Amino acid sequence: MPDFAPNSGVHALRIVIVGHVDHGKSTLVGRLLHDTGSLPEGKFEQIQNVCRRRGMPFEWAFLMDALQAERDQNVTIDVSQIWFRSETRSYVIIDAPGHKEFLKNMVTGAANAGAALLLIAANEGVQEQSKRHAYLLSMLGVDQVLVLINKMDLVDYSQSIFLQIEKEYREFLERLGIHPVRFIPISARDGLNLVEPSNGAASWYSGPTLLRALDRLPVPNAESDGPLRFAVQDVYRFDERRIIAGRIESGTLRVGDHILFSPNNKISSVASIERWNAPLKNMASAGESIGLILTEPVFVERGHIGSHDTETPIETKRFRARVFWMGDSPFSIGKRYNVKLLTQEIECQLVSVDRVIDATSLETVAGLRLSVMKNEVAEVTIQARSPLVMDNHDKVDTSGRFVVVDDRDVAGGGIIFGGVYVERERIHSTNLFWSEGRIDQRIRTERNGHRGAVVWLTGLSGSGKSTLARALETNLFNRHMQVYVLDGDNVRHGLNSNLGFTPDDRTENIRRVAEVAKLIADAGLVVITSLISPYRLDRTRARNVILSDDIEFIEVHVAAPLQVCERRDPKNLYKRARAGEIKDFTGIDAPYEEPENPEITIHTDRESVKESVGRLLDFLIPRLQLDLAEYEI
Ligand code: ADX
Repeated sequence: MPDFAPNSGVHALRIVIVGHVDHGKSTLVGRLLHDTGSLPEGKFEQIQNVCRRRGMPFEWAFLMDALQAERDQNVTIDVSQIWFRSETRSYVIIDAPGHKEFLKNMVTGAANAGAALLLIAANEGVQEQSKRHAYLLSMLGVDQVLVLINKMDLVDYSQSIFLQIEKEYREFLERLGIHPVRFIPISARDGLNLVEPSNGAASWYSGPTLLRALDRLPVPNAESDGPLRFAVQDVYRFDERRIIAGRIESGTLRVGDHILFSPNNKISSVASIERWNAPLKNMASAGESIGLILTEPVFVERGHIGSHDTETPIETKRFRARVFWMGDSPFSIGKRYNVKLLTQEIECQLVSVDRVIDATSLETVAGLRLSVMKNEVAEVTIQARSPLVMDNHDKVDTSGRFVVVDDRDVAGGGIIFGGVYVERERIHSTNLFWSEGRIDQRIRTERNGHRGAVVWLTGLSGSGKSTLARALETNLFNRHMQVYVLDGDNVRHGLNSNLGFTPDDRTENIRRVAEVAKLIADAGLVVITSLISPYRLDRTRARNVILSDDIEFIEVHVAAPLQVCERRDPKNLYKRARAGEIKDFTGIDAPYEEPENPEITIHTDRESVKESVGRLLDFLIPRLQLDLAEYEI
């Protein structure tokens, strides 16, 4: 029977406890359950008796083991959720015994926590593990964080140790963008500052106990204001009716709404919203599992994502993400994996490792890499076998993250960034049709031995774009690749000879070049564009146009300080601009908006052309590889 029950935990605060087992997680949970009176009747006494009989000292962790064992036998109880109550409300602890379980939960949405407790043992201080845990947390996007410094009894309740750990960890967390609500000194074993405040011990601490601090945190609005994302779990037939069962991951859905299902772009309207054992309502919002009946039957299956047609998710086979790898064997280019994102599961490959970040120092690890090792965090590009529906993580948490399965094991988790939203409405509403030839990209790719792509060079006049474009062109040509440079000056002699340098004209200049670049790349060539392209918005539009055709777009910021460009002044234009002979000259009296997130930045004032071309090739070549051709690109 489908589970249409609204999530029973909708109004409870869901918390996740992150920390090394040795730092006292089970003890904390056991003691918290006891002190809040949330344990099953007689459980505590029972464990105490067992310990006494066996001559062992009582440990709170035993209590958790016993509860866990019971739950394992009783399959109907959700093993991953533990409940407790304060005077004012209830809490659900999302149990995450290890990294892997934690990441698995990420994808099912179970880890949608409203708050996190980060646990650190006072006697050990901030460990590498503590930093990795925090990194995972920042990937999950949990905003409310309480840091618990545990085992204060082992350091004589020392305030200076507490303050020192707080200082060190706070600095690290802030760099990750986590702003902890507060740090609390506790001793989980003795119950210090969990429910009862310090009595004598740690009397220097005047802040709230853990439970008080939790009670003060608001239950975050379960993203019901965000864009609608409805993840289809299954489709059931009852008589004539078809019910589409799934979970609203974000946003709100009402009866009568148009709903668009991706990736197949089918639109229908909501006839009714069904719930299991619950009164009929004409709307549902984030966190609820529901059944939908549509007005017109459209083909929908598990994995599809419903949205409003005005705010659709991204649909792409290729995306950039930040991944955290935990597999024993590395995440490597050329191997097959599965990506699980909401209810979708699709085969994928790693295309390139763009940046490796040390999760404990947050520094970038130098050197070109073909794989991501255990415990590393990396920015990567992933290619899926068929289109995946997703969001950027900063837009919608749950549809912006995924796990990577290596040989049936969850080996990594990731969040998506930099994806481009395309207005699908526009495609629907025009009466234009795109004629598809029989010679598709795949066949061209096979013949050429590489994929088409657009390398978009942007930078000031005199920054070195043309030099770099020509050098890269020569290099690729010598590798028997199909390559062509679209140079701003040249294009302005023909196609764009009617355009000047007003903002509107520049925008039109970029638009045309982007469209032409897309066609040439679609024909299988690597296109290198060399235009100032001073406006961020214009470049984003160019990116959209090209990515919408599933063609790689690589934005390269050819960066050289204005003074350097002006000193070079290869065409004597800066001098004339300074003299007032040329108006609206970029860098002098017209703006240049630097790229915020380019794929590559080249500092032409600090590296040789050869070095720059080398770096471009390192990035580019893996993305043009033929072995991805079978991926119906
Ligand atoms: S863009 O801003 O529209 O991208 P584009 O790269 O096509 O510019 O053209 C820039 C080239 O036009 C420069 O390299 C320079 O030779 C020439 N040029 C002439 N007037 C200007 C101007 N006012 N601003 C910038 N470039 C100019």
